[in-house]
Amino acid sequence: MDQLTIIQPDDFHVHLRDGAYLTRTVIDTVKRFARAIVMPNLNLPVTTVALAGAYRQRIQAYLPEGCAFEPLMTLYLTDNTPVDEIRRLKGSGYVHAVKYYPAGATTNSDAGVSAIEKVYDVIEALSELHVPLLIHGEVSDEKVDLFDREAVFIDQILEPLLQRYPGLKTVFEHITTREAVEYVREGSHNLAATITPHHLLFNRNALFENGIRPHHYCRPILKAEHHREALVEAATGDCPRFFLGTDSAPHARRLKETACGCAGIYSAHNALEFYAEAFEDAGKLPQLEQFASRNGAGFYGLPVNQFRCTLVRNGEFIPAALDFGEDTVIPLRAGESCRWRLATNE
Ligand code: NCD
Ligand code: ZN
Repeated sequence: MDQLTIIQPDDFHVHLRDGAYLTRTVIDTVKRFARAIVMPNLNLPVTTVALAGAYRQRIQAYLPEGCAFEPLMTLYLTDNTPVDEIRRLKGSGYVHAVKYYPAGATTNSDAGVSAIEKVYDVIEALSELHVPLLIHGEVSDEKVDLFDREAVFIDQILEPLLQRYPGLKTVFEHITTREAVEYVREGSHNLAATITPHHLLFNRNALFENGIRPHHYCRPILKAEHHREALVEAATGDCPRFFLGTDSAPHARRLKETACGCAGIYSAHNALEFYAEAFEDAGKLPQLEQFASRNGAGFYGLPVNQFRCTLVRNGEFIPAALDFGEDTVIPLRAGESCRWRLATNE
């Protein structure tokens, strides 16, 4: 197969950032995706519907002429989010979900939830109003090994939460382990998961290939090969509750190549192409449309996109660095070539 035409996909987990970064992040994302769930962990977190509305307008200002891309906004859950904000969200028409970061688990999560009990009232409202809760599923307990934090989160937080609120629509974001795959697969129709391109393509060896590789550092951290294999099976398999979410998350080169580098991998420049590569390696390229263009829309209750896009073999060379205003970002697979290329959007 040298060409693949699929229904235009959506990205159900992306960090577009703000200000000058929007110039590049928005263009890269809208080239490939018709809609995207936009993460709210800005330096000033997007905690209210009003802030989400203003952020949405800033994003839309960067859309090319005539582009129909739809940013699906999210709210950042804090210990103090009022239940009324969830009711406002429901009426807004443009906020589609609430993001739960355990405090301290990842980039800009300090304002996140310090203990799940503190947000039970909000979660109850989400459950009643059928608003999805998007979960960064890692405990932030220093005593738990970094590579075990997702599996421990399932037992300590997620399972008790879903026992308490079985009607809650939940997306377990950027899953990275066999345990998470099995938990979601065996879960109810209210539980889904996103999977990133980097967790499909790389195992944790990529962090230490001939030396330490800060541009492969993200949260949740890359895992061992058997976990990667479980993710590939899930993404390319028949369960419709696994879908595309890139977790594309740019950080300035100077903040990654340093003694204490930031977590996050920028993949938006070739995201769909990377997924195609992972699916092809698994011998499952025909399944890409299901994962990228149907499953997520189905879970979120959105219509499937109207247009199609075509990928062709013979990808492009990926630049060694990208300009982000005054910063430089090192993209995934910098300085290498990509097997697939986006040919057209019809
Ligand atoms: C994300 C970021 O940089 O905002 N980083 C990451 O490693 N994935 C935050 C997140 O999604 O955890
Ligand atoms: Zn993320």
